[in-house]
Amino acid sequence: MLVLETLRAVQQSLKTAIETNKKIGFVPTMGALHEGHLSLITKAKETCDLVVASIFVNPTQFNNPADLDKYPRMPEKDAALLESVGCDFLFLPTTESIYPEGYEHLKMDLAPLDEVMEGKYRPGHFAGVIDVVSRLFDIVKPTHAFFGRKDFQQVMIIKYMTKKLNLTIEIVVGETIREQSGLAMSSRNLRLSEQQKQQATVIYETLSFGKEMAPFLSPQEVLIEMISIIEASTLELEYLEIVDAETLLPLTDFWLPGATACVVAYCGEVRLIDNLELVTA
Ligand code: PAF
Repeated sequence: MLVLETLRAVQQSLKTAIETNKKIGFVPTMGALHEGHLSLITKAKETCDLVVASIFVNPTQFNNPADLDKYPRMPEKDAALLESVGCDFLFLPTTESIYPEGYEHLKMDLAPLDEVMEGKYRPGHFAGVIDVVSRLFDIVKPTHAFFGRKDFQQVMIIKYMTKKLNLTIEIVVGETIREQSGLAMSSRNLRLSEQQKQQATVIYETLSFGKEMAPFLSPQEVLIEMISIIEASTLELEYLEIVDAETLLPLTDFWLPGATACVVAYCGEVRLIDNLELVTA
């Protein structure tokens, strides 16, 4: 695996692949890699001629500076993991090269997609995400880009941005990878104690319960049952919504295909996010 630290190195390394219309798979990450990220690399390798991963902890998507400082950074370990699954290139840019002086940040109206759920609790977060993803797309020039379904709202917003900018990049969504206990893999799990990991399994239990109940109850009734499970646990619920997969707006009276339950709950200090499709699209 070749490690690329400058924009010029990326351009030189991918020039021939671009000129010869190779399929370039791209997996943008913020590092602290886990099985979820590695499964995206594996998926990218199945469809593309070469795979580029990036690690960049993007300051513009953190609305809380303490979160940015606390974000785990372990580039050597990450590089070894990427190499172990056959990633071809690792792009490790500096903040200055992503956002050089005078850089015109992407401005795009994402409403209402960025006004609900994560958008409500993390104002400005998605503006930062599309800012960096569009910049990385412009540098790497992938034909395919891979994102995990765990960040469901992020995936929908990146698809929207790609369409709005008329980019021809195919956005591929990888399934959420879970521990045996059902806990969704996340870089944040590193901050959970063994006991907390056990407590956090209530999230997936609740989502699975919602899926079982969906054929029998209305979205509103299922939601009430699900909320009561989390509220009875040691976790602190931030939000739990059942939303339409396209608009991300809450479903209350009737089910639509793709209806998805999205949840955020705190386990101690750690903010955990997860979702599950309750009605198959
Ligand atoms: O999901 C992430 O890790 C980040 O939001 C992304 C897509 C790499 C942009 O910084």
